[in-house]
Amino acid sequence: MASGNKITISTLRTRKREGRKISMLTCYDYATARLMEEAGIDSLLVGDTYAEVCLGHATTLPMTMDHIVTLAEAVCRGAPSAYLVGDMPYLSYQVCPEEAIRNAGLFMARAGCDCVKVEVDRRLVKTVEAMATATIPVMAHLGLKPQSIQAIGGYKVQGKTAADARRLIEDAKMMEGAGAIALLLEAVPSEVAAIITESTELPVIGIVSGPHCDGQVVVLHDMLGYGGGHPPRSVKQYAKLHDVLVGAFRAFAKDVSDGAFPTDQHSVAMDPAEYQELRRAMAAPTTDAKGMLP
Ligand code: KIV
Repeated sequence: MASGNKITISTLRTRKREGRKISMLTCYDYATARLMEEAGIDSLLVGDTYAEVCLGHATTLPMTMDHIVTLAEAVCRGAPSAYLVGDMPYLSYQVCPEEAIRNAGLFMARAGCDCVKVEVDRRLVKTVEAMATATIPVMAHLGLKPQSIQAIGGYKVQGKTAADARRLIEDAKMMEGAGAIALLLEAVPSEVAAIITESTELPVIGIVSGPHCDGQVVVLHDMLGYGGGHPPRSVKQYAKLHDVLVGAFRAFAKDVSDGAFPTDQHSVAMDPAEYQELRRAMAAPTTDAKGMLP
């Protein structure tokens, strides 16, 4: 049931008109969704980056439809007010519009998402059009498309030349024309992101695309410093969970090895009379043939 403060696409459009920025984080589980809801994050993306940050794959390609919809269900339960975006995994929408509609329908009807995100360019206009016609709200992800990483040849900024930038700006217009309800720009120069953001009424969310977009999305593990390694320059870390968690795991291992955990405080005791009875019975000489105490 939607609460009174539920953020909808109308809220996001109003925020754009009023110049109030939209915060979005990736989220993959119920407990974290509850924390984000409490913190007032506007929008949660159940991203296919789960395959990388939680499953340890090198790319997002191994993410499957069934798995990500299960995650989306949990996130929806944890954050009933946020605007919830389901990220359509590799080959769940590229094969044909019919498959795209059916798979998107799982995010909408089974998980309770508010929209789905697809990585697109002009070649998928017909698919976005078909999804919009089937009442699927679509967020069009443009620029760097991690699901096309093998075809692009690496994680590279998109739209760096005037010609590439024009093509990207045209693609954004085509997605608006096809019925997309929002755009997401990844790894696009700030100037190009500003032009796209100014020239559309759709809310535009950016990631590594500068400050001019209507909102910003960040991958959870990157902003929390959770997962190790040095973060790229584009990531602003808001916590160093790596150090906090490794410290906690080390302290636990030491406590167990030293016998400092568990103490009586962490244990359950028998009723003393029952315990005495047990000791007496244990001291009795034998058990019967079935192994029962007398
Ligand atoms: O899956 C994801 O986390 C994403 C972000 C990189 C925008 O698509």
